[in-house]
Amino acid sequence: MSVETKSKAAAKKPAPHPNTWVFHEGEFARYNDVRLGLMTHALHYGTGVFEGIRAYWNAKQEQLFLLEGAQHYERMHRSANIMRMTLPHSTEELVNFTLELLRRNQFKSDVYVRPLLYTSSEEIGVRLHNLEHSFFIYAIPFGNYVEIESGIRCMVSTWRRVPDQSLPARAKITGSYAQSALAKSEAVESGFDEAIVLTVDGHVSEGSAENLFMFKEGTFFTPPVTDDILEGVTRTLIMKLIKDELGLPVVERSIDRTELYTCEELLLCGTGAQISPVVEVDRRPVGNGKVGEFTHELQSIYFGAVRGESKKYKDWTIPVY
Ligand SMILES: Cc1ncc(COP(=O)(O)O)c(C=O)c1O
Repeated sequence: MSVETKSKAAAKKPAPHPNTWVFHEGEFARYNDVRLGLMTHALHYGTGVFEGIRAYWNAKQEQLFLLEGAQHYERMHRSANIMRMTLPHSTEELVNFTLELLRRNQFKSDVYVRPLLYTSSEEIGVRLHNLEHSFFIYAIPFGNYVEIESGIRCMVSTWRRVPDQSLPARAKITGSYAQSALAKSEAVESGFDEAIVLTVDGHVSEGSAENLFMFKEGTFFTPPVTDDILEGVTRTLIMKLIKDELGLPVVERSIDRTELYTCEELLLCGTGAQISPVVEVDRRPVGNGKVGEFTHELQSIYFGAVRGESKKYKDWTIPVY
């Protein structure tokens, strides 16, 4: 696919139906009945924190499974705290509102859930204090965010990850995603599928919206939480699967750029990306240039678990219906 066709395909992603149910300011409402003012602070200054949560449809069981809802809302509470904001509901309430939202919309496909806590004051002035906040959740049918079968080609971005000293990457802040957007567009418009971003001091941090795992000489490695990553919910699940299912060690340590060129397997993971095998970095094949054996095995266990098919990992999901 040419770069132009790829970006046209991306532009055609479905918009929410006007009648879709959303949760807004403590109540359920229709998508088109919610209006934001032009001066909304968060729109101008990136002063919001958000989450991305998936629910997986299991056609055989005719059931939708919400994946790790509580973990996402716990992280959202932590992101909010960093930004001097407070979520207006407990984690338990938020999970229940999300389940109710999914039920109201009667989704029968994979779904992406987007909660956003944002500075809703309509005024000029960059700050965090003495401002009003609003909260909503919307949900939309959603397939793959990046390719997950044949493997993706990545470039190491010329943009660096936002450092904790400037804009904490461990908080999922709307404004930080301008950095992700710079990296993603640079990669796609240069003919790659995804960007891998380094920290300011030159270590591998993560993908534009994914955490990263590398396999080398019998061990999986992933950048530590102190290398300016978002502390991914999927990352925690993958670490568990590597240890419990593959019986392999996982080491959290800084990764050099050239280790990406010399490792045997590489994968990106996240709520959107799921598990996406990386087969090429900066025009160098990863391993034999094909999807890695362990990566493939992780995918098959992961997809069974998230679709509610694994007894062992039942506690990862909540059935919606
Ligand atoms: C920058 C970034 N890193 C990592 C991740 C993966 O996090 P999670 O697995 O919690 O979705 C995401 C996705 O939300 C992200 O945006």
